[in-house]
Amino acid sequence: MPTPLIAGNWKMNTTIQEAAQLAGHLRGSLGGVSGVEVVLCPPYVSLSEVAMALQGSAIKVGAQNMHYEDKGAFTGEVSPQMLLGLCQYVILGHSERRRDFAETDAIVNRKVRKALASGLHPILCVGELLADRQAGREEAVVSASLRASLEDVAVPRSLVVAYEPVWAIGTGLAATSAQAQAMCALIRRLLAQQFGAEEARATRVLYGGSVTPANIKEFASQPDIDGGLVGGASLNAQQFTEIVRTTASARPQGRPA
Ligand code: 13P
Repeated sequence: MPTPLIAGNWKMNTTIQEAAQLAGHLRGSLGGVSGVEVVLCPPYVSLSEVAMALQGSAIKVGAQNMHYEDKGAFTGEVSPQMLLGLCQYVILGHSERRRDFAETDAIVNRKVRKALASGLHPILCVGELLADRQAGREEAVVSASLRASLEDVAVPRSLVVAYEPVWAIGTGLAATSAQAQAMCALIRRLLAQQFGAEEARATRVLYGGSVTPANIKEFASQPDIDGGLVGGASLNAQQFTEIVRTTASARPQGRPA
């Protein structure tokens, strides 16, 4: 099974100075932890400082978005070429981008293909709205979104998928571990259909949505959950450290070591 991954999505929080401080703090507190890959995703303007603060450590850096073109007349956008050298990962298709910036699956698909072609590891987010779940169509919605976001992706190597139910993001109302496991298992089945069983097993599928030190063990112990995408709790060094440490000691059941 793949090494679990805990990614911190700092969203639009932290000044450059605060970001460097938080990264420096986490470098110290996570120094002795092994068996978990850790990725910090600060705002664009702090990528350079955070990368410098983490230089020589095992902690990786990620961006929260990118454009699908390398350069051109796209005012305010940041390209994959600009990110290369600053970070290894990039969050794509987060529900806040889909909701507030009208990102469709088709746009997300272009970004995923471009990230993979550029050598960046995409963390592709998919998840249903509360209304979808209430209507019992969460599986249909997530399946359609994942398929469309991965259209024409041939080799998923270095792809990470995050299941983030929109109703669980920033609400304190996390999915149950059973709900999260069921949806992550569905995602893995869809990955297996497109890429084959071996690639699907090797691809990290994360859960995100109100992850805390108190609930991460439940999630990380599920057979199809390979870690978490953490929002609010990733801004608190102590909480994030505890989430990473707990993941390192969690033993997923039902999957070979
Ligand atoms: P919260 O952990 O604050 O619910 O945010 C989850 C998220 O959106 C991570 O990308």
